[in-house]
Amino acid sequence: MKYPKEYLDEIKSRLKVSNVVSKYIQLKKRGKEFIGLSPFKNEKTPSFTVNDEKGFFHCFSTSEHGNIFDFLMKTQNLKFGEAVKTLALQAGMRPYTFSKADEEREKAWKEYAGIYSDYINFFHNELLNNPDANKSLNYLKNRKLSLETIKNFKIGYVRKNLSLFGNLENKFGKKAVKECGIFYFDEKKNTYIDRFRDRVIFPINSISGSPIAIGGRIMEKNSFFAKYINSPETQFFKKGNNLYNIDKARILSNKLNQIFLVEGYMDVIGLNNNGISNCVANLGTALTEKQIKILNQFFDEIVICFDGDESGYKAAVRAAENSVRELQPEKQISFLFLPEDEDPDTFISKNGKEKFLKYYETNKILIHEFIFENLKKQSNNSPTSLAILEKKLRFLSNSIKDQYIKKYILDFFLGKISQLTPNLSKGKQFAIKHVAALSETKKIYNESISITKEQLQEFSILYLIINNFNFFKNNSNLLNDLSFITVDGKEVLSKLTKIINSNHEINLDMLPIEKSMLEKINKFASVKHISKNIQRDENKLEEIFYEMKKDLKNLFLDKQILELESRFSKDMDQSTLDEIIELKKLQNNN
Ligand code: GTP
Ligand code: MN
Repeated sequence: MKYPKEYLDEIKSRLKVSNVVSKYIQLKKRGKEFIGLSPFKNEKTPSFTVNDEKGFFHCFSTSEHGNIFDFLMKTQNLKFGEAVKTLALQAGMRPYTFSKADEEREKAWKEYAGIYSDYINFFHNELLNNPDANKSLNYLKNRKLSLETIKNFKIGYVRKNLSLFGNLENKFGKKAVKECGIFYFDEKKNTYIDRFRDRVIFPINSISGSPIAIGGRIMEKNSFFAKYINSPETQFFKKGNNLYNIDKARILSNKLNQIFLVEGYMDVIGLNNNGISNCVANLGTALTEKQIKILNQFFDEIVICFDGDESGYKAAVRAAENSVRELQPEKQISFLFLPEDEDPDTFISKNGKEKFLKYYETNKILIHEFIFENLKKQSNNSPTSLAILEKKLRFLSNSIKDQYIKKYILDFFLGKISQLTPNLSKGKQFAIKHVAALSETKKIYNESISITKEQLQEFSILYLIINNFNFFKNNSNLLNDLSFITVDGKEVLSKLTKIINSNHEINLDMLPIEKSMLEKINKFASVKHISKNIQRDENKLEEIFYEMKKDLKNLFLDKQILELESRFSKDMDQSTLDEIIELKKLQNNN
């Protein structure tokens, strides 16, 4: 009885050859390969090589050669079945027990893989060679895909009026074709319909490269049909266990440390088309632990790069919370947020590989930083919301499986919280001492403790106004509903507003503002770190200004709420509570 290929593949996909071999032999990395002393011969110069990319070992002095199973059989004197058992255990899998059902499953698998393979090859050929498919070929070419990319991904086009059902039925039997998921049953017409008709199709392969599912895209936007559809889950295809392009991407793991995880088929294909092949997509579902595990097996850094829109951001939040548990020492998970309305495909098509990589280098954010930033955004610095923030962060840290990582991530979070609560942390509330901030940041931070949040926010707004005077002169309405909280801030703002609304020329060197105030604005306006990037983009400027106005208003509301909360803790008066609730509503609407 043979082990099912899937089972053996699963073991292979979980264990690199070098992992297995290095339990018995000391290996050194040399280029793409590993090298060590041959287990088959006494030798002084190493002639034994391991190639994870190809999945085998080779001994140059004895010509012994094989995969992980062969290695155990040959060096440990095991039978094939014993080698499989040992390695399955090492891979964290259950030992395989054979039954009649297995035999049937193996047969079903062969039919299943055969159907997908025939179907995909047929329609790939059609796309390339049939004039009826020209429309689709042109569509892909208009999306700048090279012929090489189209071939590499075996993209196909399924014609409207051609069904392969009959041909496949003759070859593989009705049951298998009915169950494979490519066709669905139309009760009215009492017949099987090809669900991908008139769609461009993208084969989805298992980790070892057999096609096991399909994604299909309509060519023009149309409100009746979904833009993308997938073949359904079957006994051989589970969405959450697979990643689009993992079969090709994993081969690169010897050369490249990171893998880009994107949302869509076209993102993977667009990146490949522009020279970035270390990318996979998670097939339009929430990222699963299993997917993270697969990627961790091959790559040291997972870069999650979803679309630059709201749903992409939300997906990233979910991905962060799901994947933080799987963090391991020496493995990294980071996020890359693209500019608004871009996806990896559009971004790289416009900007090319170098700019994409540059963007990645400068903009990636580590998972724990992202988690903190995201949760902090939802908190408003009131005691209750800080408590919630801490609770959530502790909960997330606690979910991390690796004990070391858990400790350090918690430390990072607590350090961050203690920056938000300088009074608390003076008394060493936290058991773990947090990592020291860089001395320069620390200095500014210490000075800024004496400055209130309201002041800081006002400084930033003033900084923007002063440095973009002409813009605000042309858009003076932006200042209409701006009201400051501090006395000093109010005074400066009213002076600036006057100048902006007058018709006089402005001399920036002679603003009627005290020098010490100007110095503080320059020093503490945190917006200055980003304002360089936005100066030439007026929409961005307006957007940021708007956000800052909103934040200031929130701070104002926060302050009022805090006062009321402390009053309520003394008077327990219903009217105080009502006022608090009113203000919180306002805050939510802001
Ligand atoms: P293009 O529009 O061809 O550039 O694709 P895209 O990758 O930009 O698509 P989008 O960002 O809209 O979607 C990303 C992924 O989500 C797709 O690759 C699909 O896996 C999935 N998806 C998108 N739209 C649908 C849909 O209507 N139905 C389903 N089931 N999945 C979808
Ligand atoms: Mn797209």
